Amino acid sequence: MRNILVAGNWKMNKTPGETVEFLEELTNYCKQNNHPEVEVMIAPTYLAISEARKAIADAPVLLSAQNVSMNINGAFTGEISASMLKSIPVDMCIIGHSERRSYHNETDSKIYRKLHVLLANGITPIVCVGETLTQRKADETMEVVIEQLDESLNDLNLVTGKEIVIAYEPIWAIGTGVTASPEQAEEVHSLIRRRLAKRFNPKIAENIIILYGGSMKPANMEELLACPNIDGGLIGGASLETEIFTKMIGIAIETKKRN
Ligand code: PGA
Repeated sequence: MRNILVAGNWKMNKTPGETVEFLEELTNYCKQNNHPEVEVMIAPTYLAISEARKAIADAPVLLSAQNVSMNINGAFTGEISASMLKSIPVDMCIIGHSERRSYHNETDSKIYRKLHVLLANGITPIVCVGETLTQRKADETMEVVIEQLDESLNDLNLVTGKEIVIAYEPIWAIGTGVTASPEQAEEVHSLIRRRLAKRFNPKIAENIIILYGGSMKPANMEELLACPNIDGGLIGGASLETEIFTKMIGIAIETKKRN
């Protein structure tokens, strides 16, 4: 069975000092409350990532970056390479987030290149896909998600399926307080899993963690996690306060204990 991943995407929030303060509380919580099948991850800004690594120390918390350059090194002002992330080290990296797709022109072909530089450096990519409200209303959700998935994974080869994570993030649900219903989310998650089964094979597809992202919070987490193809959350707003985020980790642990 797949693990649950509770992943906090802090976006452009928290200074290095605030990051360390948060992680002191989070690591204490995670040392006292853990389940072998529940993984916890945080993605601070680049600026706080070294401090975050030290603050996590040996606690069961994974560290992620929010972005990476698709290039290996050289004259790319303002960019950070996968090998630099590896030197920290970071465990994971979010790519293709809708905010990067819309504000920084991150296309599927760039995501494909980012995926490969990450894998070459032993960092797990979290590949985000999702439709806009207009696309959903036009009944284009499935088409859009499949295209994003196919193009960003392109000719990728996987051995187990544990090398990558997919995050389904309907854009209309991100930061809006509106969450996809469990039925709406599960419909897309199961489509993604079927596509992955076709693209790789059913065994590999069964191992790939598919996160839901978009206004996930304590009040809706349990019903989302109850869906067979939802393996955790990529959590923005609700990951910024330790009290709320640890509550969500607790919900994931309870879900695993029940199953
Ligand atoms: P949200 O963000 O939980 O604040 O909607 C999720 C995300 O963008 O990853």
